[in-house]
Amino acid sequence: MMHRTGLSQRWAAVFLFLSLLCSLFTPALMVKHENFKTCDQSGFCKRNRAYADSASAASSSWRSPYDLDSSSIIFKDGKLSGTIIKTVSTTGEKVRLPLTVNFLESGTARVVVDEEKRQKGDIVLRHESKAKKERYNEAEKWAIVGGLELSKGAAVVSSEAGYTNVKYGPQSSHEAVVRHSPFGIEFKRDGETQVQFNGRGLLNMEHWRAKVEKPEPKEGEEPPPEPEGEDESTWWDESFGGNTDSKPRGPESIGLDISFPGYEHVYGIPEHASSLSLKETRGGDGKYSDPYRLYNADVFEYELNSPMTLYGSIPFMQAHRKDSTVGVLWLNAAETWVDIVKNRHAVNQLSLGTVGAVDTETHWFSESGLLDVFVFLGPHSQNVVESYSALTGFTALPQSFAIAYHQCRWNYVTDTDVIDVDRRMDKHKIPYDVIWLDIEYTDGKKYFTWDPLTFTDPERMHKTLDKRERKLVAIIDPHIKNTPDYSIVDEMKSKDLAVHNKDGNIYEGWCWPGSSHWVDCFSPAAIKWWISLFKYSKFTGTFKNTFIWNDMNEPSVFNGPETTMPKDNLHFGNWEHRDVHNINGLTFHNATYEAMTHRNDDDKKEGPKRPFVLTRSFYSGSQRLGAMWTGDNEAKWDHLKASIPMILNQGISGFPFAGADVGGFFGNPSKELLTRWYQAGAFYPFFRGHAHIDTRRREPYMAGEPYTGIMTQALRLRYSLLPAWYTAFYEASTRGSPIIRPNFYVYPGDEKGFAIDDQFYLANTGLLAKPITEEGKESVDIYIADGESYFDYFDYTVHAGKPGRTATVSAPLERIPLLMQGGHIIPRRDRPRRSSGLMRYDPFTLVVVLGNDGSADGELYLDDGESFDYQEGAYIHRRFAFSNGILSSEDIAVAKGSKTEKYHKSMKDVRVEKIIVVNAPEAWKSKNEASVSEEKDGKSGKKGDATVTFVGKTGGKANWAVVRDPGVRIGNGWKIDFN
Ligand code: NOJ
Repeated sequence: MMHRTGLSQRWAAVFLFLSLLCSLFTPALMVKHENFKTCDQSGFCKRNRAYADSASAASSSWRSPYDLDSSSIIFKDGKLSGTIIKTVSTTGEKVRLPLTVNFLESGTARVVVDEEKRQKGDIVLRHESKAKKERYNEAEKWAIVGGLELSKGAAVVSSEAGYTNVKYGPQSSHEAVVRHSPFGIEFKRDGETQVQFNGRGLLNMEHWRAKVEKPEPKEGEEPPPEPEGEDESTWWDESFGGNTDSKPRGPESIGLDISFPGYEHVYGIPEHASSLSLKETRGGDGKYSDPYRLYNADVFEYELNSPMTLYGSIPFMQAHRKDSTVGVLWLNAAETWVDIVKNRHAVNQLSLGTVGAVDTETHWFSESGLLDVFVFLGPHSQNVVESYSALTGFTALPQSFAIAYHQCRWNYVTDTDVIDVDRRMDKHKIPYDVIWLDIEYTDGKKYFTWDPLTFTDPERMHKTLDKRERKLVAIIDPHIKNTPDYSIVDEMKSKDLAVHNKDGNIYEGWCWPGSSHWVDCFSPAAIKWWISLFKYSKFTGTFKNTFIWNDMNEPSVFNGPETTMPKDNLHFGNWEHRDVHNINGLTFHNATYEAMTHRNDDDKKEGPKRPFVLTRSFYSGSQRLGAMWTGDNEAKWDHLKASIPMILNQGISGFPFAGADVGGFFGNPSKELLTRWYQAGAFYPFFRGHAHIDTRRREPYMAGEPYTGIMTQALRLRYSLLPAWYTAFYEASTRGSPIIRPNFYVYPGDEKGFAIDDQFYLANTGLLAKPITEEGKESVDIYIADGESYFDYFDYTVHAGKPGRTATVSAPLERIPLLMQGGHIIPRRDRPRRSSGLMRYDPFTLVVVLGNDGSADGELYLDDGESFDYQEGAYIHRRFAFSNGILSSEDIAVAKGSKTEKYHKSMKDVRVEKIIVVNAPEAWKSKNEASVSEEKDGKSGKKGDATVTFVGKTGGKANWAVVRDPGVRIGNGWKIDFN
C-alpha cells in the first residue's frame, strides 16, 4: 500500500513538473495552414494563375480568345448588349456568352457576362445532382439595394470598326471604349484611361462541357497519356483534407484582369490581416506568393501580414494615385482570389504629369457565378465609396448605446456574475453600456434557451442593467443543435428550413453543440420562421434591452472542409453552397436584423427600435445590418497594431462599424498591453472588450492602479466624444463615409501618406490619433500632411504643421497621442456618467480649434438615439462656424417632418455649457465678455453677455479661452460675438 502511494506521489510530482514545463514553453499560437487551401490546392485558382502565366510567357503573341460579335451589339436606354464568342483553342468550339454593360445614372458602369448554355439550362449535371444549372445570378438580390437606374444621358458617340465608345456619367465626362476583338473595355474619365478590363487578355469563362469518361486501363496496361491542352485534373472532383467536392457542374470559374494604369496603390477587398495598401502577390521580397483570398472562414489563430482569407469578404477595391481614386466591385459570392502586380515604368515626361510611373494590375477569379463588375470613376475616394454605398446600402444608423463601450467575455457565467460585473463597473466609476453573453448562457448550446442552473433569473438581470439604461447582448449562432428534446430543431426540420446536403437531405455537421443543422436564411420561409423565434413570447427571458450577436456564420463547421460547409451542399432554390458561400453570413445577419426590427410589432406604443446585431461574417451590404469585429485575435502587441489597418480598410470599404476584441481574444495581455488596447479601442468605431474562455478576468477594474484609472480615462474620452462619433455615424449612414479615415482619404494629393495605416482622423472632426501599439513606447511621431497647426488634445501643445513633417508627441502610458487640427469645432459632453443613456439631456461643450486663418467649423447630429423617428424629421443637425470673431450655430437639417417639433421640444432645455477656444487670438487677452444672441420664434435677439476667460500661451502651448454657460440651446440658432 505504502509503496503504491509513494509511487503515485512520485508520478504526481513528475506530472506536476511536466505540466509546469509545458506552461513555460506554451507553443506559440499559430494558424493551421494545412486546414486552408493555398492557391495551388484550389483547382480554379491554380488554373487561372496558370492561364495568366501562359499569357505572360507568350507575351506579345498572346491573344485572348474572346471576341464581341459586332453584329450583335445593341445600345438602348443606357444599356449596351451583345454576345461575346469564346473560341475554344483545342476544339474550335464557339461558346456564346451574353454581355450587358449598364451605364447607371450615378456615373457607375456595370459589366455582366453570362453563359448562354447554362442560362438556358441546356447542360447535364453529374451525379444526378439536384443543383441549379444556371450560373448564380442572385448575388444582386442580397447585396444591391438601389442605384441601378439606367442613365438617360449615356450615348454611343462613335463606333468605328472594332470599337464602340459610350459616353456617360456627370457631364458625359466618362467614357467606355468597348473593343470588340479581342473583347476588352477601357474606362476613361476626362479622356484618360483609369480602369482597363482584359487588357492583359486574362478573361476566362470556363464554359460547360460534358465529362468525357476515359476507359479504365485494363489490368497491367499503362493509362493512356493525357491529351495536350488544358489541365483537367481539377475539373470534376476535388479533394481537400479528406473531403471530396463532387462538382456536379464541372469547371465553371470566371477570371478577368483589371488594370489601373498610373495607380500605385490599391486598397480594400477585406477581410485580411494585412496592410491598408495592398501588397503584390506574385512573390518576391516583401510580397505575398498567394493571391488575396476571399472565402469566408473561421480561421483559428489567424496569422498577421497574410493574404489568407478571414471571416468576411467585401470584393470592392479602390485604386489611388495623386488626386484620383477609382474602384471596382466584383459582385460574386463564390470563392474568389485576387492577384496584384505592380508594373513600374518610366514616366512620360511629356505627359501632363498626372499619370504615375506605376500601373497596378489585378487579376480576379471566382469559382462559379456570373462575371458581374461595377466600375466607379471617382475622382475622390469619397465619391467611390458613396457610389458603392448607393448600390449596396449605407451603414445603418446605430442606436447611440451601440457606439459606446461593450463589456464582453466568454463567458459571464451566471446572471449574478453579470450583476456583479455591473456593480463593480459602477463602483470603479467605469462607464459602460452593454454587457454580453457568449454561448454558455444557453441550456446545452440550444439557442433561444437559458441554462436552468446558471441563468435562473434573466428578468432580474435585465432589470438591473436597465436601471442605468444598460443593455444585454446575447449570442445566437446559425447551427441548431440536433437533439431530440429541442422544439426549435424539430420545427426547423418539419418545416424543411435547413441547408441540405448534395443528395437533398438535411445537412448535418459539428459545431459548439455537437451534431447540428444549419438554418438556411436564403429561404424566405426560414427568414419568416427566424423572425418568429425572437418574439418576446418565444425567446423568453429577453426584454427591450436585449440585443443580438451572430457568430460562426461563415458558416463555421468544425468537421467541414476548411472548417465550413461542403461546396456541394444545397441552399434554397437548389443553389450550391459553392455559389453563395460568401453571402451566407450576410443572409443570417439579415434574418436576425429583420427579427429585431419586428420585435415590437405587438407594441404599437413602443414602436420599432433600431436593431443592434454584431456579425462575424459579412459581405457587401452587411453594413446595412449592424457591426462587425475582426474575430479571434490574440493578446499580443502585433495584433493590437494589426487591428488598425484592418479597421481602416473596413471603413473605406463601406462597412465602417468595425472593431477588434480589445485586449486580444486568445491569451492574457500584460497590464500595459491591455491599457494601450483600451486607448486604441476608444478609437474603434465598434468598441468592445472580449476574451476567450480560458483567459483570466480582465474587466478594466481588475488591473488595479494606475492601469484601471488610465483605462477609465480612455473610456471617459470615448464617452465625452460620443456626440462627435454619433455625427460621424450619421455621415456614414447618409454618405457611406468612413468613420476613422486614413491619410490617403483625407489628403488624396499627399503621396507620402498613401501607405500610412497606423494613424487616422476621426471623421471630419480634425481629431488625429495614433494609438501606441508597441511595448514600452513613451512618445510617437505623427505624420502631418498639411500646413495647418495641430494642438495636443489634452494640453494644447502646438505642433506647427508643415506638409510632410512629423510631430513628436509625448505619450507616457496615461497619454493617448491625439491631436486636434486647426480649423475644426468638436462637440463633446463632458459630464462623467455611467452609461451613454444617462447623457441624453446633458449639456454640450464645444471645442473651437482655430486654424491658421482664424476660422473653424464643425457639425453635430443628434436624435433620440434609438427609434426610427429621425426618418420623420426627429433630429437636430447643426453646423457651427467661427469666422471674423463670431461663433454661430446654423440649422443644416435637410428635411423637417411630422416628428421634428416634438423632438425639438424634448431637447429645448439642452444647452451649450462651455465653449473652449483653442488658439484664441492674442487680442483676446483683454477680453472679458462676448455678446450672445439667440433665435426666438424665428428672430434673433440679444441675450446678454457671457464671460470670457483667456489663458495665455506658455511653454509651447497655445492661447486658449473659455466661455462658461453662454446660455444658448443646442437646437437653436445663435451667435456669440467676440469682437
Ligand atoms: C468564436 C468567436 O469569434 C468568439 O468571439 C466567441 O467567444 C466564441 N466563438 C464562442 O462563442
